[in-house]
Amino acid sequence: MALRRSATRVIPSTTPAFTPITSRTFATVAPDPPSRTHGNLKDEDRIFTNLYGRHDFRLKGALARGDWYKTKEIILKGHDWIINEMKTSGLRGRGGAGFPSGLKWSFMNKPGGPDGRPRYLVINADEGEPGTCKDREILRGDPHKLVEGCLVAGRAMNANAAYIYIRGEFYNEASNLQEAINEAYKAGLIGKNACGSGYDFDVYIHRGAGAYICGEETALIESIEGRQGKPRLKPPFPADVGLFGCPTTVANVETVAVAPTILRRGGSWFAGLGRARNSGTKLFCISGHVNKPCTVEEEMSIPLRELIDRHCGGVRGGWDNLLAIIPGGSSVPALPKHICEEVLMDFDSLRDVQSGLGTAAVTVMDKSTDIVQAISRLSAFYKHESCGQCTPCREGTGWLANIMKRFETGNARKAEIDMIEELTRQIEGHTICALGDAAAWPVQGLIRHFRPQIEAKIAHYQATKGASSGGVSAQL
Ligand SMILES: Cc1cc2nc3c(=O)[nH]c(=O)nc-3n(C[C@H](O)[C@H](O)[C@H](O)COP(=O)(O)O)c2cc1C
Ligand code: SF4
Repeated sequence: MALRRSATRVIPSTTPAFTPITSRTFATVAPDPPSRTHGNLKDEDRIFTNLYGRHDFRLKGALARGDWYKTKEIILKGHDWIINEMKTSGLRGRGGAGFPSGLKWSFMNKPGGPDGRPRYLVINADEGEPGTCKDREILRGDPHKLVEGCLVAGRAMNANAAYIYIRGEFYNEASNLQEAINEAYKAGLIGKNACGSGYDFDVYIHRGAGAYICGEETALIESIEGRQGKPRLKPPFPADVGLFGCPTTVANVETVAVAPTILRRGGSWFAGLGRARNSGTKLFCISGHVNKPCTVEEEMSIPLRELIDRHCGGVRGGWDNLLAIIPGGSSVPALPKHICEEVLMDFDSLRDVQSGLGTAAVTVMDKSTDIVQAISRLSAFYKHESCGQCTPCREGTGWLANIMKRFETGNARKAEIDMIEELTRQIEGHTICALGDAAAWPVQGLIRHFRPQIEAKIAHYQATKGASSGGVSAQL
């Protein structure tokens, strides 16, 4: 079993001094001693062994890779055992928020027992976050891991069925998954008396139509029910009133697909990878200005720089050509090069530098990037995807997009930089769902780290066109 290092281990006075990461002002986990490095995941610790589709995704291939091994025994151990093992593993949801999965999966098991309503597990396979391309690899290459995951996670929650909500554009993924489901039914692995355990469990696919907001768990539930994908006000939470008015847990594809391996190998195996509170392996998808963009399974807490150098052949033009990285999908603030140099790819390390792990989609931008234009493009995306229910989001995303568009050319006033920052604060935390935050954070990150770039554009515009063009600065 891999060693789990204590984050609070006392370093003897004879230990050579190391440079502390001074930027971690609100550290939630003390920095590991320099002797403990994470990353370079061993093949024997890899969960997804057909990520690149080189082998057979069907049942025969899945059995050869160890899927469906002793699943009956796992189910017979019961919900308490499964939940405890998941808690021991320290798994945190891979859909973006990083909520502890064992705890979340226990919410539907109320002390009074079942209340007569059916219970549902809903798998979020919407994967709409820009830059994110990990769940689709599981669906294409390792669909049996997800189907088996549905069964064991469903057992943990005492669910009657799983609905897999899959992004409409994922045609190949949906057909591979449907084939895996058909095979599993035929082999008696799911359905009535699943795996011969006495437990009945059905799995259905529901195809979406490609709206980003349908990835938000309550919008997703609305969409399965046949309505527009508009997030619900909470409470009630889905664990009380979810799909078809019944207790429901929504979980990400990767979260559920890793569960069978965790339960076979033991929660402590998974907890031994990565730093405390950030355990396990993780799929990272790296795109943008790297030599070899890829999706790769690595140990949690791998340094960002190592992830890029080891798996992507480095930044295009070399590390010194790096401008910024968005480390966790388009919703989290971008980080400048000096922070990318030290930060670890886990929930806490990225939070400590005022960004986030999100979906672990890493977008690399080299010095050729116009970062103002790049973030402006994201603002346009969030404006387009807002469902329009809440005023701060509906109006605010439009304002952000309009101001950001003017920042692109510099047709703005310097005072608007503070105004747009204030605007993001009025959106953040004031909406029904987290899309409002997701629209606000990239702009905040831009202002925090790249304000001089915006100012330079405004100064250039004023010097060249400002007085004659009738632009915003000329109207002062
Ligand atoms: C606008 C928006 C889009 C989202 N899109 C996805 C998505 O595509 N896939 C996903 O798993 N979670 C997505 N989420 C997060 C889900 O609401 C939910 O937290 C997640 O599916 C829970 O799974 P987990 O506990 O396994 O992380 C999104 C959230 C928001 C606010
Ligand atoms: S925050 Fe935006 S996307 Fe979310 S419910 Fe409100 S208006 Fe809709």
